[in-house]
Amino acid sequence: MGALSGKVAVVTGGGSGIGLATAARLADTGASVAVVDLDGVAAERVADEFGGLAVQADVGRSDAWPGIIEAVTSRFGGIDFAHLNAGVMTGEADITKLDDDTYRRAVGVNVDGVVFGVRALVPALTARGGGAIVATASLAGLIGFSPDPIYCLTKHAVVGLVRSLVPQLGEHRITINAVCPSIVDTPMIAEQRGLLEQSGFPLIDVSAVAEAVIDRLSGEESGQAMVIQAGRQALAFRFGRPPGPRAGGTVGQLPPTEFAAHDQG
Ligand SMILES: NC(=O)c1ccc[n+]([C@@H]2O[C@H](COP(=O)([O-])OP(=O)(O)OC[C@H]3O[C@@H](n4cnc5c(N)ncnc54)[C@H](O)[C@@H]3O)[C@@H](O)[C@H]2O)c1
Repeated sequence: MGALSGKVAVVTGGGSGIGLATAARLADTGASVAVVDLDGVAAERVADEFGGLAVQADVGRSDAWPGIIEAVTSRFGGIDFAHLNAGVMTGEADITKLDDDTYRRAVGVNVDGVVFGVRALVPALTARGGGAIVATASLAGLIGFSPDPIYCLTKHAVVGLVRSLVPQLGEHRITINAVCPSIVDTPMIAEQRGLLEQSGFPLIDVSAVAEAVIDRLSGEESGQAMVIQAGRQALAFRFGRPPGPRAGGTVGQLPPTEFAAHDQG
């Protein structure tokens, strides 16, 4: 049995791609896994493979989360780990053509799904004496990404949220990290796959992302944004420090600690 044996994990977007790979890896290591997905059939199919629990839900709806937590805790007795991974692209590069529904959907799944997820999970993880959360951001959460600016916005939001929650969640012995993969070979990029292959761009296998997620879930570090590139070990991104104030006598001064309780640099 593996290190996560006897633990309970929730994976959102677990019906496909990266989430499916993480769910399978977690089950392999001996964890009990709840597969949460908007696509209930896909969730069932994945959960059935390892005796997990399938939960059909839209993670972007705040009213879905009490039901998710209740379903998992009543089946497995609690929750220790979560991979908040469900996400969508907009498919729209041109902001003048962006329609409201596409925008709201991307923000709903990619941002609200993580915010509502963390909010609902913290009490459940705290009740077990702590735990770990990993959110799937993207390399587009660390760089500008012109092919999909709204997707890029949502993934930056995830990275900022993760870094900001470190001290608060740390008080409950909960770690929180983000994984930031470049392009991963999943159904999400199916339409662009041919183009990417033609150009020789190296796609990342889902197993590499799943490995990085498991690593963060079982480690002590918190607040990291793990860059995942084809053929490289996952690497914690090193954020630069923005310049401080230069007004007379305040050079380099930080805000009072009550205002900025934690500086991630
Ligand atoms: N594939 C890539 O190149 C790539 C790169 C970086 C980051 N990511 C991120 O990885 C995550 C997983 O993407 P993937 O490539 O595995 O995609 P995927 O399309 O294979 O899987 C996404 C899953 O999320 C589910 N989902 C969508 N909306 C949902 C909702 N509202 N509630 C619950 N489930 C929902 C889908 O049904 C699907 O099963 C996403 O957050 C994505 O942004 C992907």
